[in-house]
Amino acid sequence: MAITCKLVPYGSAAYQATVELRDKILRKPLQMVFTAEQLAAEHDQVHVACYDGEKLVGCILLKPIDQGKVKMRQVAVDEGVQKQGIGTIMVQFVETWGRQNGFQLIYCHARAVAEPFYTKLNYRIVGDSFIEVGLKHWLMEKDL
Ligand SMILES: CC(C)(COP(=O)(O)OP(=O)(O)OC[C@H]1O[C@@H](n2cnc3c(N)ncnc32)[C@H](O)[C@@H]1OP(=O)(O)O)[C@@H](O)C(=O)NCCC(=O)NCCS
Repeated sequence: MAITCKLVPYGSAAYQATVELRDKILRKPLQMVFTAEQLAAEHDQVHVACYDGEKLVGCILLKPIDQGKVKMRQVAVDEGVQKQGIGTIMVQFVETWGRQNGFQLIYCHARAVAEPFYTKLNYRIVGDSFIEVGLKHWLMEKDL
């Protein structure tokens, strides 16, 4: 596998492909859809796409919260290629991006099923679990 990550512009064809991947991996299994408002709100977020050669295999959104803090959202790896290290490569890529862009802290709302994934990447749980999109989540964070 030759895995590469890069930023893709909001609204581009590459961005649209990441929306389709997120819809397939994160929304359809919950019988949910992205609303036009949700997608419009992504215009000022950072879109990271991950490829195996030419093929899109994963994506992440980054939402700068303030000067020091960035939120990692919508972490998705395509079915069939999960648990092969792609998620780890993507998270390492966005952590490097965060450091290079002056952020000191990265956090996410981690689905409980994905908590071991973030724990292995040295994220820590903050506070109590909560429900989002009908699923149990943890706030998890890491110093950059
Ligand atoms: C969660 C997800 C992003 C992880 O990406 P990935 O490419 O599958 O993860 P990696 O292969 O880099 O895994 C790294 C480690 O975390 C573990 N891991 C990954 N997903 C896991 C899961 N759901 N449950 C338990 N452990 C998990 C792996 O086994 C691996 O451990 P190891 O190093 O001991 O073998 C991906 O599986 C995915 O998209 N899942 C469906 C959508 C989802 O839940 N997204 C997260 C929303 S918060």
